[in-house]
Amino acid sequence: QAPSTLHLRIRPRLYFDCVSSTNDIAKRIVSTSQHSVLIVAETQTNGRGRGGNTWFSTKGENLLFSLTLPPNIFHGGSLQPDLITLITGLAVYETLIPIFSHLPNSVRLKWPNDVLIHQKKVCGILVESLYQGNRLKSIIIGIGLNVNQQVFVTDIAERTTSLRCENGGQSLSRITILFDLLQNLFKFIDQLSHSNSNRKEILDSAINAMQILHKPVNFIWKDAHMNGKIIGISDEGKLCIQFLNGNIHILSQNEIHSVNY
Ligand code: BTN
Repeated sequence: QAPSTLHLRIRPRLYFDCVSSTNDIAKRIVSTSQHSVLIVAETQTNGRGRGGNTWFSTKGENLLFSLTLPPNIFHGGSLQPDLITLITGLAVYETLIPIFSHLPNSVRLKWPNDVLIHQKKVCGILVESLYQGNRLKSIIIGIGLNVNQQVFVTDIAERTTSLRCENGGQSLSRITILFDLLQNLFKFIDQLSHSNSNRKEILDSAINAMQILHKPVNFIWKDAHMNGKIIGISDEGKLCIQFLNGNIHILSQNEIHSVNY
């Protein structure tokens, strides 16, 4: 699809000053149409992250939005939350790469749902599925991207950053970033829905963006500390881990709280 078709594919586009959470609004609005709905807000009173975390963001400085995907967007192909999270992260990553081209290797995708700059989190992604009975009604992609925020509360300042903080204090256009990001995301959606052969290319790009191959990894799984090494990303966007005894485990994001590598 030509980028100019974005305005046809995303309808309606809703803008709010303040909402509880754009993901919650998306759940209520979900249209029955073939279109995606975009909900953008300047601030949230109940911004949510994965695993029950809270998402904090100063008003009017960052990007807070949710995009709904109709269930048939992949023409019958499956809409695995891990894979949707992966292509969304990749879309953010590809949007940031040109901005930080003067700082090679500074931007990194972290499985399952973070984008980092200089090892600090700049973006989080929360993908939720909305069901009506057993039927998938919609996929909701929530994105929080710190764009122009300059001050972070002390307890997260060491782990969190914004594009502006990493860009020598220069502010950036939120609307341009939003447009580029949506364009990149629909590029991946189209690639996935048109041919399965594109999937390998996308997974390779994600592995590259994550810089993860052969990295040691540890995580808590069913109350046990697990150690292994990352050997790839599955077709569904899950993390493939090999334990020291040679066994292989395919890890989905909803099985764990956090993974360190
Ligand atoms: C995470 O890092 O765990 C995911 C954070 C996702 C935050 C975004 S902000 C817009 C959308 N609305 C929410 O309540 N959460 C997502």
